[in-house]
Amino acid sequence: MALDLTSLPRPSRDDTTVGTMVRGLVGSEILRIAAEIRELVAKGTQVCNLTVGDFSPKEFPIPTGLRDQVGVALQAGETNYPPSDGVLELRQAVQRFYERALGLKYPLEGILIAGGARPIIYATYRAVLDPGDVVVYPVPSWNNNHYAHMLGAKSVVVTTDADSGFMPTLAQLEPHLSTARLLCLCSPLNPTGTMVDPGALRAICERIVEENRAREGRGQKPLILMYDHIYWVLSFGGTKHVTPVELVPAIAPYTVFVDGISKAFAATGVRVGWAVGAPTLISRMRDVLGHVGAWAPKAEQVATARYLDDTKATESFLTSMRASVEARLEALHRGFQRMKDAGLPVRAIAPQGAIYLSVQFDLVGRDGLTTNDAIRKRLLEKARFAVVPFQAFGLAEDTGWFRLSVGATSVAEIEAALPRVEATVREILAGK
Ligand SMILES: Cc1ncc(COP(=O)(O)O)c(C=O)c1O
Repeated sequence: MALDLTSLPRPSRDDTTVGTMVRGLVGSEILRIAAEIRELVAKGTQVCNLTVGDFSPKEFPIPTGLRDQVGVALQAGETNYPPSDGVLELRQAVQRFYERALGLKYPLEGILIAGGARPIIYATYRAVLDPGDVVVYPVPSWNNNHYAHMLGAKSVVVTTDADSGFMPTLAQLEPHLSTARLLCLCSPLNPTGTMVDPGALRAICERIVEENRAREGRGQKPLILMYDHIYWVLSFGGTKHVTPVELVPAIAPYTVFVDGISKAFAATGVRVGWAVGAPTLISRMRDVLGHVGAWAPKAEQVATARYLDDTKATESFLTSMRASVEARLEALHRGFQRMKDAGLPVRAIAPQGAIYLSVQFDLVGRDGLTTNDAIRKRLLEKARFAVVPFQAFGLAEDTGWFRLSVGATSVAEIEAALPRVEATVREILAGK
């Protein structure tokens, strides 16, 4: 008979078995919302689920070439440890990909493969920051608050607004740059689906270079820029993706790119990500991840290398991927534009990139709704429309802004849900 351990203690707030940092780590807000949705779905309610930053494999399958190559690599026995910086073929494929698509030729020592982009972000924070060091990032943004907490770093938050497309300006960042060790930018941005303006990014990069020249003269550690552009191939409506390094080449020694196949190739569960940057930083990140063992599985690395080098296949996949994501974002945007034109207090930012749309339900203070979360709940219960408030991305104020993520829905589901949303907004306005 097996030893019955099923009644072992479950986690609790005042659990003394773990350290202080871990006790203070906040779980994902989105997972909490997802649990509520699961409950509704289990009761047979159909929900238009725009919460998860993920893809449903039914709506967005991974490229067949990638899928097939994973099988081929496993059959060929690619099952032992990969090198700690990634298999050579994949690092070379990423090197060619960046040269071909972004016009940036990095040395191989500047390319590190990991099990998705998350370990890359963790390793960047870990390699740059000591406890108490300052990390600056805009809010809303994705998970910087959690990484900063894990490192014991001092978060300095710059709150952005809709007028600047939720992107920080140099003027907003300026007061913090002289004390910061790490600045985290992301474009296209999760949660807003907006992209940084090239002029604004250039100004920020020039200022970082100037700051670092001064620090070098004083023998101080430089300010590092983490540029998370995991959604960079998903841009729409004529908005062009730009990189710090193409705009200001002198920033290259201080820049780490965060990237991977999770979003571009709808391959969130395949777990292949990479960092591209200066070897000085990348080699330290490799050492960190080597001890964590956060490598991408070897067969998936080999498969990704072969797939990335098939430029015809990747380009044709990306063309149809962009069109599918854009069709969903446009359907949502059109719907909210119609409601706005009809005088309802809603607005959406036209799709620019990623798989997200920013929508404001300007309903705080109406019909007893005092918070974004209360609006979210009402939309879920009455309209079966599931969205995530910007509070899940570090925003403190209840401004009525929400992230709508389209990777798990169809255009038909969106079209069917929009009239329910309109009816619910009208009910709220009528105070019912
Ligand atoms: C901006 C951003 N960076 C990184 C990641 C993590 O990607 P991965 O699934 O490859 O760890 C996400 C995932 O949602 C993201 O939105």
